[in-house]
Amino acid sequence: REIHYFSELDSTNNEAKKLAANGCPEGTIVVAEAQVTGRGRLARGWFSPHGKGIWLSVVLRPPFNPMDAAKCTLMAAVGVNRAINAVTGAGCGIKWPNDILWQGRKVVGILTEMSAEMDAINHIVIGMGINVNIEQQEFPSEIAATATSLAVASGCQVSRVKLLTTILSELETVYNSVKNAGFAPVLADWKTQSITLGQQVDVHGIDRSFGGVAIDIDVDGALLIETTQGIERVLAGDVSIRP
Ligand code: BTN
Repeated sequence: REIHYFSELDSTNNEAKKLAANGCPEGTIVVAEAQVTGRGRLARGWFSPHGKGIWLSVVLRPPFNPMDAAKCTLMAAVGVNRAINAVTGAGCGIKWPNDILWQGRKVVGILTEMSAEMDAINHIVIGMGINVNIEQQEFPSEIAATATSLAVASGCQVSRVKLLTTILSELETVYNSVKNAGFAPVLADWKTQSITLGQQVDVHGIDRSFGGVAIDIDVDGALLIETTQGIERVLAGDVSIRP
């Protein structure tokens, strides 16, 4: 597989999208020691200091229906969460749809971007930001209360090489499982790793906000929330778990 390693990039997702548009093979990987303008979901930035995390993008060319793109993000979350827990024993969980948290603080963020022509997916770029050896006091003040790292969670420095190889192998396992057996086994796994299900949550959508209890995810990976008005289905948006 092609591995493109950089000391510094604007964003590994940008680089991966360029490579994908130029026809790179499936499974091509982009990693950088630092990102100058790392991007997060909902037009946010992503703190990506040099040598302290894994700033990684993977190019896939899945043979799926475009509607399945959202589920690729859940798939990535399952693979990454398995890997980080196997390597560190930290006991992280997945917050819907794809944040990985330790004690309520974010350790991993995932940003999936796709390019579709007509109604076929040409490629999908799954970007993952893993906070590995960042000390708590190193986080910028805006995220200091909501972010943490695997080193903080496990109480020691974590090998980024060991983590990266484990993440890549778990991603391959979970992707092969989806190709062979569909999304159901991965969604079932997602549920076992979820910290959202069963919790009282607040949903901040583009056009609406409401609260309720997160009761399940459906076959499309949408979050089902029981509210006083009935069951609401959320496919995108920001969900916060009430303390
Ligand atoms: C989020 O907002 O939770 C998603 C964060 C995704 C960050 C990763 S770091 C590697 C890749 N390149 C980017 O610019 N963003 C993603």
